[in-house]
Amino acid sequence: MADETQRPWWHDALIYQVYVRSFADANGDGIGDLDGIRSRLDHIASLGADAIWLNPCYPSPQRDHGYDVSNYFDIHDEYGTLDDFDALVSAADARGIKILMDLVPSHCSDEHRWFVAALAAAPGSPERARFYFRDGKGEHGEEPPNNWQAAFGGSAWTRINDDPNDGQWYLATFTPYQPDLDHTNPEVGQLFTEIFEFWFDRGVEGFRVDAVAGTGKHPDLPDQPPVGPDTGVLDITWQNPYSVFREEGHEAWRHFRASLDDYGQRHPDRELMMVAEAYAVRRPELIKKFTEPDQFDQMFSFDLMLTPWHKESIERAMQDPLEILESTGTPPAWTLNNHDIQRIVTRLGRSDADQPESWTNNNLALSGADADLALGERRSRAMAALIFALPGNLFLYQGEEFGLPEVLDIPADRREDPVFHRTDGAEIGRDGCRIPMPWTTDAATSYGFSTGRADGSVGEPWLPQPDGWGDRSLAALDDEAAPTLSLYRRLGDTRAKFAASQPMHATVFDGGPGVVAVRRGSLVVVVNPSAEAVELDLGRLGVSMDQVVLASEPLDAGSSTIPSDTTIWFVSSD
Ligand code: GLC
Ligand code: CA
Repeated sequence: MADETQRPWWHDALIYQVYVRSFADANGDGIGDLDGIRSRLDHIASLGADAIWLNPCYPSPQRDHGYDVSNYFDIHDEYGTLDDFDALVSAADARGIKILMDLVPSHCSDEHRWFVAALAAAPGSPERARFYFRDGKGEHGEEPPNNWQAAFGGSAWTRINDDPNDGQWYLATFTPYQPDLDHTNPEVGQLFTEIFEFWFDRGVEGFRVDAVAGTGKHPDLPDQPPVGPDTGVLDITWQNPYSVFREEGHEAWRHFRASLDDYGQRHPDRELMMVAEAYAVRRPELIKKFTEPDQFDQMFSFDLMLTPWHKESIERAMQDPLEILESTGTPPAWTLNNHDIQRIVTRLGRSDADQPESWTNNNLALSGADADLALGERRSRAMAALIFALPGNLFLYQGEEFGLPEVLDIPADRREDPVFHRTDGAEIGRDGCRIPMPWTTDAATSYGFSTGRADGSVGEPWLPQPDGWGDRSLAALDDEAAPTLSLYRRLGDTRAKFAASQPMHATVFDGGPGVVAVRRGSLVVVVNPSAEAVELDLGRLGVSMDQVVLASEPLDAGSSTIPSDTTIWFVSSD
């Protein structure tokens, strides 16, 4: 039998997501930066991380906080320099931590030199052919070329001017300042080949590839068919059959794969990877398609991130990714939080969180129900203990180890997310999961977020931190041996000890009423998502209480019940 521990690092790695702007600010201007990350590497290492995924840190006007790239070959000046980046890569490497970058191929910034050149060039020019420029409809071209909507609100088309000799429109799936690139143009593919080469040469081991769903369009750009009456404004885009999950996109990914493999062949010592980001929830056929051998290594499984706290929903959320692993060998990429989603502590603390219908495919939809944060944090611990046992990569998002909740009461004039502004505040957007991290209890340094000025002063943090944020800081939680942080640390160790040697194979099975049960080799994990303690059916589970190696809450000695909202790991010695 093959040695199960000899697999590429990215089959079962722990990857810590750093939202650069909000992680740590080493020069005191209120904005996170690369040196700040370097100063906090010990914390990331203490969780057992194998790699860090950096949210985009390329030069950018920051209108979508780096997802609007104006130059793919440099570092954003607020975050540092290429030298700072190199220093981060080597400091991480010294701790055995790899760096993944975030690649944004679907669109660039309207300040990217290509787009600036396209505006200056004529209709039909090669400069415009890197984007989707089209003439408008109507007598004077005053109407958009079709009815497509932008993902963050408004039309997907923007007219560049009213010039009767030009007056073309360009397509932008997210916001007008993120024009879509046309990947059927070979120049676009060539650009990304060069981007790979540039960052791989700097020691980056792979990429999280952004927004793969909307890359590639029907060549004729036909009108989107009518959507159902209940479709939310931010969902319309994702139901457009002519712009979402298109075969044209897969052509682009095959080119990416070829570029990555070409680099890999010239550097056989490297194990490079790319993971695709798209909301393919409950659509396993899509994950299979994106992870065909000529495309991505893996694709996020967002099912568990969006599932309600409900037995059958949790089971269902694991089954598709595990089935894909079984049939194609593609390791799942599990995650419970990211920079686009309401934090799990708030989400699972909501009074409707246990209702199967509160499942949503919309990453931005927020339930308005009240949240019990202590309950949500307890459930988040149970969820973390579940995913740490599963085969595949784990993507943790900064602050989940502190049990940070979503910050909901940000004043409108401090909100930054284009989702909020483009919908006139109808959607509150994603700022609440991007609040600068609390490291200490010292309010005068934005809770340790900002450091580095000789006079000790600090700039205002780019998003306001709520009162009491220091109670959730690393320093405060360390002192109290807080349950969430200490569980995350134990999980890293327990995973290394008991899960890493298990096969890349797991099954969800019937472990008795009320509980979710998963078996992976000699590891059995049981979750009780119900509001009551449950007497475990040890015979059916095939375990005994002396095999417990971890529990997300304290257990009663001598009892064989699992408390509510708790996860237990059992490991048999055979
Ligand atoms: C992805 C990113 C999100 C960004 C969007 C547009 O969904 O995760 O933050 O706004 O793509 O690039
Ligand atoms: Ca800074």
